[in-house]
This record gives sequence, C-alpha cells and structure tokens, in this order.
Amino acid sequence: MKLQLEDIKKKTEKILEENFNLDELNEMKVKILGKKGELTNILKEMGKVSAEERPIIGQLANKIRDDLNDIFTQKYQEIKNKELEEKLSKETIDVTLPGKEIKKGSIHPVTKTIMEIEEIFIGLGFEIAEGPEIETDFYNFEALNLPKDHPARDMQDSFYITPDVLLRTHTSPVQVRTMLEKKQDLPVKIICPGKVYRRDDDATHSPMFHQVEGLVIDKNIRMSDLKGVLLAFAREMFGPDQKIRLRPSFFPFTEPSAEVDIACVMCGGKGCRTCKQTGWLEILGSGMVHPNVLRYGGYDPEEVTAFAFGMGVERIAMLKYGINDLRLFYENDVRFLNQF
Ligand code: DAH
Repeated sequence: MKLQLEDIKKKTEKILEENFNLDELNEMKVKILGKKGELTNILKEMGKVSAEERPIIGQLANKIRDDLNDIFTQKYQEIKNKELEEKLSKETIDVTLPGKEIKKGSIHPVTKTIMEIEEIFIGLGFEIAEGPEIETDFYNFEALNLPKDHPARDMQDSFYITPDVLLRTHTSPVQVRTMLEKKQDLPVKIICPGKVYRRDDDATHSPMFHQVEGLVIDKNIRMSDLKGVLLAFAREMFGPDQKIRLRPSFFPFTEPSAEVDIACVMCGGKGCRTCKQTGWLEILGSGMVHPNVLRYGGYDPEEVTAFAFGMGVERIAMLKYGINDLRLFYENDVRFLNQF
C-alpha cells in the first residue's frame, strides 16, 4: 500500500511536465483525488493493513493527499499564467476607437428655475431662508392673520397630520419664522424657495408644487419698493423689456394686497391663447405685510413696514421654457428632462 501511494504521487508529479489545458487538468484531478478516484480506491484497502502499521500509513496517505493537492494547484497557476501571457502577446488595443458615451444627468427644470430665481435675488442683496415642510397651524395660518374659520384652512385644501400639524400649504410661514430668528434686526431681505402641498390634482394643479417667498422689512418700506424689486426680477428672468402690472387683490397677511402679472411672454402683450386674450399672465401674490403679522414676528408695525410676495415656481418655469402641461414636471420622462 505504501508503494501504491508513492506510485500515485510519482504519477501525479508527471502532470507538471504535461502540456495540459485547464479542462484536462480538472479531469485528471477528479480521476486521482475525486470521490471515486484512485486515491480513494487505494485507501479502501486500509482495513487490510495491520494495526501497528495503520497510523503510519494513515499519516503517509494524508501527506500524499496534501502533496497531490499542491501539485494540482501549482499546475493550475502555471496554466493560468501561460494563458494570460498568450493573451497579452496577441491582444492589441486600438486606442483610436471611440469611447463609450457617459450619460450625464441634467438639472430638473424646476430646480433650474429655483436656481435662476435665487441668483437674481442674491444679486439684489437678498439672503436665502428655509423652513420646514411639516408646519404647525400657528405658522402656516394663525401667525399669518388667518383666523380659525378662514376657508383656506378647510381640511379640503390641506394635508393634516394632526389637527395642529400639517404639510405647509405655502412658503409664507417662513416669513414669521425668519422674523423671530432675526429678533428685530434690520433690514430683513430674504427669499425662501421650497415645496408646498395642497389637496389638488389636475392638469394645472399638483398636490406638491414649489413656491418662492419673499420678505423685505425696514424703516419706510413702501409699495413702490415692492414694485421696483419685482420689475427688476421680471426683467432679469424674462428679458430687459419685460413689463409688469399690479392688480388689487386680497390676502389675509397683506394690506394692501396685489396680484402681479407679467406681459404675456408668448404674444408680447397682444393677446393669445396662453394669456386668454388678456395680454397678461399672473405670476405671484404680494402686498404690504399686515401689522398683525409683523407683531407675531416681534416687529413693531409703528416702527417698520414690510412687503412680501409668493410666486409659483412651476408657473414661472412653464412660461420661461414654454412648457404647456404641469404634469410633465413630475413624470420623470427623460425625453422631457433631457431638454434642460
Ligand atoms: N401665500 C400665498 C399663496 O400661497 C402667496 C402670497 C401672497 C405670498 C401674498 C405672500 C404675499 O407673501 O404677500 O397663494
């Protein structure tokens, strides 16, 4: 048996000299070391070995098994190395072939519009403020002079989390939050871009959309300041000849209040389908901040005055880029998104 074991080792060592490929090597390995292989066959005879010799033969068998494994590993490495060398000597790389195109993403048109709006207001000396999307009744309504029974507080318009906590329906709550942070500091000149939520869903309304709020507080702030700032904004955004107009309106948090239109960007003010033949397009709500709101923010309405505005980002983006359906913004269709 000892001889048989040594024989099998010698036989296996010969493999090293053979010109085997990987398949042939594996076949050989199964034949010698496999479950039904030659080594197993020899070891079946163990029973016949005398009790004194058994441990010696056993040890030898273990050693031979290890040796055989080593031989196969060595040969395997050899074959692999050879294959690699062959491959490297044959293969040439054509560096003139065009590379694979790396597809870059693009900035979403709503984000892009927000960035443009921010640029313009930063240029006018404004800071960017932020506030939470989950808001309390106090900041979303109460501090904005919206009494408990105001229709805008109707459950139908808002997403409530508890009777006292809701998804903000506009960016206006950031006004009072900013005032309380500024602690009567002057001047306050901020804009706040962000998401807002309403229970609305059709071709022109999405349950989530974006607004940019603006707030300016100082001594002697007047309606003409509001108009000047918004005109400067409209000209930067839509072109140097852009016209705006202010129409009287109502918001509980401003007095007086105005809605602001820009001359229709499609027809230049002549009247077309987009502007419903009026020549004007509404882009935002605004006004002089109501004294109650200033008081909630810790500012004295006898000392300071303020204007505020809130614009819809999707609407501005649609006008600026000629997009005719609000839903395109949220469908994530790359054919649409690629264009920005
Ligand atoms: N918050 C109003 C809305 O969501 C828009 C608005 C109107 C904001 C007048 C203002 C403002 O700051 O002064 O429709």
